[in-house]
Amino acid sequence: MKNNFLRVLGIENPDKKSIQDLSIKLDIPVQKLKYYNDYNILPDISELDKIEAKLSVKRYKLMLGMEIYDKELLNILRDNIDQITPILSRPYRKKSIEQKKLPIFQTQYGKLYNQDCIKLMQELESESVDLIFADPPFNLNKFYLSAINDNLSDRDYLEWCEKWIDECIRILKTGGTFYLWNLPKWNSYLADYLNKRLSFKHWIATDIKYTLPIAGRLYPSHYSLLMYTKGIKANTFHPDRMPMEICNNCYKEIKDYGGYKDKMNPKGINLSDVWLDIPPVRHKKYKAREEANELSIKLLDRIIEASSNPGDIVFDPFGGSGTTYAVAEIKERNWIGTELGPVDTIVERFSRLAEERDYLNQLRQAYNNLFTEKVKKERKKRGIWTDDTFTQLNEQGSLFNSDLVKQSR
Ligand SMILES: C[S@@+](CC[C@H](N)C(=O)[O-])C[C@H]1O[C@@H](n2cnc3c(N)ncnc32)[C@H](O)[C@@H]1O
Repeated sequence: MKNNFLRVLGIENPDKKSIQDLSIKLDIPVQKLKYYNDYNILPDISELDKIEAKLSVKRYKLMLGMEIYDKELLNILRDNIDQITPILSRPYRKKSIEQKKLPIFQTQYGKLYNQDCIKLMQELESESVDLIFADPPFNLNKFYLSAINDNLSDRDYLEWCEKWIDECIRILKTGGTFYLWNLPKWNSYLADYLNKRLSFKHWIATDIKYTLPIAGRLYPSHYSLLMYTKGIKANTFHPDRMPMEICNNCYKEIKDYGGYKDKMNPKGINLSDVWLDIPPVRHKKYKAREEANELSIKLLDRIIEASSNPGDIVFDPFGGSGTTYAVAEIKERNWIGTELGPVDTIVERFSRLAEERDYLNQLRQAYNNLFTEKVKKERKKRGIWTDDTFTQLNEQGSLFNSDLVKQSR
C-alpha cells in the first residue's frame, strides 16, 4: 500500500521533481502531498475537487486505490452488487506455469516442502486442511537463514501477512481452525483483518517474556495467540482441562476458585485464555535451531489436541525448527509444512522424536485431572479432600458432598 496516493495519481516512483510538478499543477503544497502519500490519508474536499478537475481522478478511484473503504463507499458497492459481481468473479490468480515442487522430506504422516509458503499454498486445494498454526517472522530485523527481509515497513509487513493469511483462509476447511502467533502489536491489526473473514474465538495471552524491559514502556510479557474458525462453529474443539494449582509444600490449593470447589469438575479446571505455563525454549541443548525462534512443543501439543483429531490435516506455513510438524507426527495428525530456509534441522529433529514424545506423554499425565497422582496421595495423607472424596456425580458432572470440601478449607 506504500505510495498509493501518488500511484493513483499516476506517479509510480515519486521523486522530488515529480512531486513538485504535481504540486504546481494541483496547487497543493508539496508537504501536503507527501503527507497524504506517507500516511495514506485522503485529501480534504477542496483538494479532491482540484484533483478531479485537473487530473480527472475521481474521489472514489482514489479511495479504492488507497484502500480507504468508508461507509459511503461500501454502500455504493452494496447497491451495485449485480454490476460488480461479474468483475470480482473473473479469475484473478495467475496459473502457475512452474513445475510443481515435490516435498523435500516425507514421514509416515507428513510432507515437508522447501519453498515460499504462499507459492506452496497456491498449489493446495481449497478447503483441504483442518487446522492451521502460523508463527511468521515478527519483522524485528532478525537474521534468518532464509535471508528474508525482516525489516519491512509496517505497511509492507502487514500487506505480506494479509497475502499469506488469504491463502490460509482459502485452504482451511469450513469448521477448521486458524491460530496466529504474533506480537500483540501485529495481531491488533491482523485481528481486524481476520474479523472480516473468519469467526473470532479467542485472543490467548501467552506469558513469555521476549525482550528486556524498555524505559517508558510496560515490560512486554505476552505473545498473542489468535484463534479463529472458518464459519461459525469449529468442527473440533476439545481443550485440555488443567490440574488445580497446589502449594508444593502444604499441598493445599493455592487459589480460591471463587468458593465453588463443590462444583468442580473432577476432570480438571477449564483452560483459560491466559496461558502462564508455556516455557520459552532457551537452552541450546533443547533448542533445535538457534535462529529459528523455536516454540515449546507444550504449546503445539495444547493447540493440536484442542483443535484436531488423529488423521486430520495440520498445516504450518512457517517451519522454523519444525515444532508443529514434530508434534503433529507424535499425535498422528497428517501434516503439511514448508520452510523457505534450510530444512536440515527439521529433518534431523525427526530422528530423535522419541525424546519429545516422552516429554509430551509426561506432561499429559497432569492434564484432564483435578490432581496428579502424586498430589492426590499427598493430600490424602494430610486429610485434605481429593476428587476421590466424592462418591457421586450429579448430572452435570459437578461434585457432591460439599461439606467435606468446606471442612478442608
Ligand atoms: C518464527 S519462525 C517459526 C518457528 C517455528 N514455529 C518453530 O517453533 O520452530 C519463522 C520461520 O519462517 C520462515 N519463513 C519466513 N518467510 C517464509 C516464507 N515466505 N515461506 C516459508 N517460510 C518462511 C523463516 O525462515 C523462519 O524459519
